This record gives sequence, C-alpha cells and structure tokens, in this order.
Amino acid sequence: MKRVLVAMTALAGVTVWQAPAASASVPLKDITDRYVGSAVAASYLANEPDYRAVLTREFDNVTPENEMKWGTVEPVRGQFDWSGADAIVRYAQEHHKTVRGHTLVWHSQLPDWVAALPAGELRRVLRDHVMTEVKRYKGKVRAWDVVNEIFNEDGTRRDTVFRQKLGDGFVADVFRWAHAADPAATLYINDYNIEGINPKSDAVYDLVKTLRREGVPIGGVGIQAHLSIQYGFPAEYRENLARLTKLGVDVAITEADVRIPTPPDAAKLDTQASYFGRLWDGCMAFRRCVEFTTWGFTDRHSWVPGVFPGEGAACLFDENLHPKPAYFRINP
Ligand code: XIL
Repeated sequence: MKRVLVAMTALAGVTVWQAPAASASVPLKDITDRYVGSAVAASYLANEPDYRAVLTREFDNVTPENEMKWGTVEPVRGQFDWSGADAIVRYAQEHHKTVRGHTLVWHSQLPDWVAALPAGELRRVLRDHVMTEVKRYKGKVRAWDVVNEIFNEDGTRRDTVFRQKLGDGFVADVFRWAHAADPAATLYINDYNIEGINPKSDAVYDLVKTLRREGVPIGGVGIQAHLSIQYGFPAEYRENLARLTKLGVDVAITEADVRIPTPPDAAKLDTQASYFGRLWDGCMAFRRCVEFTTWGFTDRHSWVPGVFPGEGAACLFDENLHPKPAYFRINP
C-alpha cells in the first residue's frame, strides 16, 4: 500500500489544504490508499506547466506513455536514448510519486533490428534489454509491465517474433531476468480486453496460475481497461478481479480510458462517468487491486482520436484541464 496520507484533515478548524479552482476539494490520490496514476509524456511535463500542475496535484503514480518502450530506448542497436524515461523518473522522485515501468517486452513499437535477429542472438539481446532497463531504474520503479499483450482474443498466444523464435517459454524467462535485476519491483503481465471474464482473460488467469506454481516471479496482472461507451461495460468484471486476486497476485488497472463517439454531449459524458465509476468501484472493492492508472488524464493529449477514428474525449479531464463528470463520479 502506498505510504502517503490517505486524506488531509482539518485540525481544530484550521484549513490545512486549499482547493484549487474548479476541481474537487480533495485530490484523487488522497481519496484512497491505492496508487492513482496516469500515463505521462516527458515533453508535456517539460513544456506545459498547467499539465504538470494537474498531474502533480491529482496523481501519485506515473507511467511513461512511450519513453520506456524498446523502440524509444534503443531504436538503433547500441544507440540508447534514456532521456525521456530519466526525466519522468526524476520528476517522480522529486514529487514522491511511484513509477509504473511500461513496458519491457511488446510486439509493438519494437525496433526492426530486434525483430530481424536470429533466435540465439534474440535471446541474448532480449535478456540484455530487460536487465539493462530494469537495473537502470532499480529501486525507482515500483512495478513493471514485463510482458504486454501476449494473447489473442480467443485466448491463444499472439504470434510475435518472440514466440516464433524463442517459444512460449520466453515469458517465464523475462520475468526471471527482470526479478534478478530488481527483486523489489512487482512484475506484471498486462493486456487489454481482460476486464471481464472471456477467453482472453481465462488465458491470462491460467498462465498466471501456472507461472506461480512453477515459482516464476510474477506478482501482478495489469488490466488495461481501454473501454468505449459504444460497447457494454465488461461482463463479470468483479468476478474476474475476485479470481485473479485469489491467485495471490496484485491487480492494477493500468491504462483506463473510456472513449466516446464524437462529439461528446451530456448524456454520453454521463455514460462515460458510470463506466469510470464502475471500474473504480470494482478496484476499490478488492484489497489487492492496488493501483488505478488512466492512460493520460486530459483530452488534450489522449491517444484515442489518432487510433480510433470518430471517438475521443476519453479522459477524466477535458482539453482545458477541467474535471469532467467522470472525475466527479469518482471523486464527488
Ligand atoms: C500507445 C501510446 O499512447 C501512443 O502514444 C503510441 O503511439 C502507441 O502506444 N496499449 C499499451 C500502450 O500498452 O503502450 C499503448 O500506448 C496503448 C495501448
């Protein structure tokens, strides 16, 4: 559990905290003992004081949106760029926020040079990548998304270069390597469309169970929670949280956002608020749901419009950094 005050209290009628205009009186991070996070980008953090101020006030975990991905840190073999990741980790340290490392092994945003390696070399390079990155931030990253999106919707393994060349066993290997590099970090498997009970979340559940039985150092399941109000709220969300936490691992909501077919209106924002509320309340209902992180906090910078044409407005704050109904649903 996080080591910060859960809520600021007024002693003997003395006001100890002044609410900023146009947001709830208590920041999101202080209404719960769970980590409350957002994906962030180093460039906005450096160049937008208002973005930085809202992030600092409302959240106590940060997840680099792209800065720790392989394609960012080593786009060309042997040429490293840690500048963005370093800046975010430095910000976190200075502001007493935790970092969720994202992500060590993913088929996407993977440099071509890695994908082109023959099996034996790929294994060595993968080991070096995982150990170099985890060691660099040892003691500064609370949790890592070790493997990201390794399953298909039907629960079979995604056919990535790692699987093709190294076999399914690469998953256990990368957890062991990451654990050796920083034994204190909690190591997660992370995926989307695994909020409810379905073939994909069944596969995640089964794999975690197997890995735990084999002594592989996996400590958590990251549920991305990229939702859209076009679809129903995921079925059996709480049942899924219940079975995962019963395995003895932590669960984190790692990338929550709720897309709206544009343009947003009051009714759509209300539906969005109920989706965010259900996601939040479900997490809070389980002691081992230890983190609630959103994939960006402002509609000014969300990945949604670029990737889902016709959808947007997926965050808790609007483009002007004003809290939306979804924010007030969570933090009335
Ligand atoms: C996205 C970023 O938000 C974009 O800026 C980038 O262009 C592509 O990746 N699942 C994940 C995240 O695990 O890493 C993705 O982030 C969104 C989906």
